[in-house]
Amino acid sequence: MFHAEKFIEKTASSLSEDITRKALIAFSGGVDSTVCAALVNKAIGDRLIAVHVNTGYMRKNESELVVQMMKELSLNYRYVDASQEYYAALKGVEDPERKRKIIGEKFIRIFEQVAREEHIDCLVQGTIAPDWIESGGGLRDTIKSHHNVGGLPQEMELRLVEPLRDLYKDEVRKVARALQLTVAERQPFPGPGLAIRIIGEATEERTRLVREACAIVEQEIERASQKGVMQLPWQYFAVLIPIKTVGVHGDKRAYGNTIAIRAVQSVDAMTCHYSTIPHEVLDAISTKITNTLKEKVNRIVYDVTNKPPGTVEWE
Ligand code: XMP
Repeated sequence: MFHAEKFIEKTASSLSEDITRKALIAFSGGVDSTVCAALVNKAIGDRLIAVHVNTGYMRKNESELVVQMMKELSLNYRYVDASQEYYAALKGVEDPERKRKIIGEKFIRIFEQVAREEHIDCLVQGTIAPDWIESGGGLRDTIKSHHNVGGLPQEMELRLVEPLRDLYKDEVRKVARALQLTVAERQPFPGPGLAIRIIGEATEERTRLVREACAIVEQEIERASQKGVMQLPWQYFAVLIPIKTVGVHGDKRAYGNTIAIRAVQSVDAMTCHYSTIPHEVLDAISTKITNTLKEKVNRIVYDVTNKPPGTVEWE
């Protein structure tokens, strides 16, 4: 049986022994990094510096929200807008594992730069158990290189500290609730962001499409769940598929992209079952995406795959 309070006490005390100088935390605003930041902050106070990197692959208004969260948590923070750098680094890259490795390495190089400026020697990451298990973990096949594990470069200047390494998502959420963090119920969002929700090259223009589609999926599903039409899934989003199909807009021929709707139920992300979204909600999502992204997207499909054999994200 997992005890959140005991975990908090034990972890904060070992962190205060372990981190003798200053630490930097990779802060995405998700449950894992927020819990981690709160724990390390408890242990070493303002010797912790939170760094939020806007990779250009964040969801709509997300970086603004994350900056707000860092302020509310009274963290010492730095905000780095690296979007153009990321788009340039991923230019022409289609392979999912290469994308993940480039993104992972870039994160580290940015953190190292901040660390040099601030005389920091260790990097705190909110890595949790499924991240390293699915990244190979030494014993298993690599399903995908999570950006904070398999996506890390071989040579690093910073020492890694990962207080949540042995926890699963449901346990991290228990810790978040015990710490009274409002982020406890937020749906997971992968570190490589929208880049792995774009099948093929993640250009700025294609990111704009998937960002808008993701926002609509979130909005419509949250609205439906507030009205009691459906339960809020564990995770729900859109994926841009590089398949163009023929359609019709008014009386004009269209030839546009395809968006897939993905929503899943899970406990710990190791397995998942696709969520049953009522047809009226699917209908609202489909109409809104095709109206908003007119001439760019003219077909919406619904992913009915479990994990296994699929994974939650498509890449
Ligand atoms: P998969 O796609 O592996 O996803 O079934 C399981 C859970 O992990 C999230 N995910 C990631 N999280 N870095 C992260 O921080 C990553 O590289 C990464 N890849 C997948 C995914 O959104 C799901 O919640």
